Amino acid sequence: SRSLNLAVIPGDGIGQEVVAQGLKVLSAVLPQDVKLETREYDLGAKRWHRTGETLPEAELDALRHHDAILLGAIGDPSVPAGVLERGLLLKLRFAFDHYVNLRPSKLFPNTATPLAGRPEIDFVVVREGTEGPYTGNGGSLRTGTPAEVATEVSVNTAYGVERVVRDAFARADARPRRKLTLVHKNNVLVHAGHMWKRIFDKVAEEYPAVTTDYLHVDAATIFFVTQPERFDVIVTDNLFGDILTDLAAAVTGGIGLAASGNINPTGEFPSMFEPVHGSAPDIAGTGKADPTATVLSVALLLRHLGHEAEAVRVEEAVAADLAARGESRPGPEGSAGGSLRTTDEIGDALAVRVAG
Ligand code: IPM
Ligand code: MN
Repeated sequence: SRSLNLAVIPGDGIGQEVVAQGLKVLSAVLPQDVKLETREYDLGAKRWHRTGETLPEAELDALRHHDAILLGAIGDPSVPAGVLERGLLLKLRFAFDHYVNLRPSKLFPNTATPLAGRPEIDFVVVREGTEGPYTGNGGSLRTGTPAEVATEVSVNTAYGVERVVRDAFARADARPRRKLTLVHKNNVLVHAGHMWKRIFDKVAEEYPAVTTDYLHVDAATIFFVTQPERFDVIVTDNLFGDILTDLAAAVTGGIGLAASGNINPTGEFPSMFEPVHGSAPDIAGTGKADPTATVLSVALLLRHLGHEAEAVRVEEAVAADLAARGESRPGPEGSAGGSLRTTDEIGDALAVRVAG
């Protein structure tokens, strides 16, 4: 019989609550013969306060042996900014070589969008996950003085860019519209920007069926709002991808719906699935958090592990649940109808739908 050996990192704030719902839906959708084993890891703000540790080597080693990781959210106002983000979340992405940060955006029925005329939105951002300004390269001279100089160096390697560009082309080639847009800023960031463009153009020759496009990131933000239907697959660097995917979430029903996968396509390391939203400490424990983003991340997890039919069932359950919601309420506390149902009730409804 088959098995799914899952690492669970609930993390901070609403992470705990939404992960519980993700697991509920996962157990409900998995076929009888797939044995689900989970191990929970106590990582995040509480652990740091207690022991000063963010991600000890022993736990990193243990995490490595799971089929996948489900993560809730990391970050708390009581911890200095960057400690958990760098020491835990980014450490996992880097250690497990999650070079594809996959962030689909779809405008589901009956969801709130600030865009006029409800355009068709169905695109996926392939955000580079291991390089760019996220590597921690840089430093500060004469710190705290008026003469301080601080640098954050964006690291872009041909190896790192080519592998993520290849992944994006393959994804675009497998979708009906077969369109790939490179987003960068090569009119200003001429070193990295031109390398990205050169590599993109070279790989494009191997995918004659894929239509290609290039946009500067500032122009891309305009088109996300005025013409989102022009996008199919987007490939971009780590920081641009971070910013663009929050915008994408905002125009497709809110951050309460945005799912992501930190993928290691080679399978050498476990991939990690997490909602795009953060720990939302302001609503933690109130039952107001929308678990849908986590549930959709579970769908990405299922697809990554080869359970395509189950992934589709989860996505259809979410679409049906959203369509059935009465009112819309955009914002981090829930994408739609949040005032009517709690975190737990939405999870229950989704679990019923996937099982039925
Ligand atoms: C995200 C988050 C992270 C990022 C932070 C918490 C480090 O914003 O997953 O988008 O910048 O990647
Ligand atoms: Mn982000």
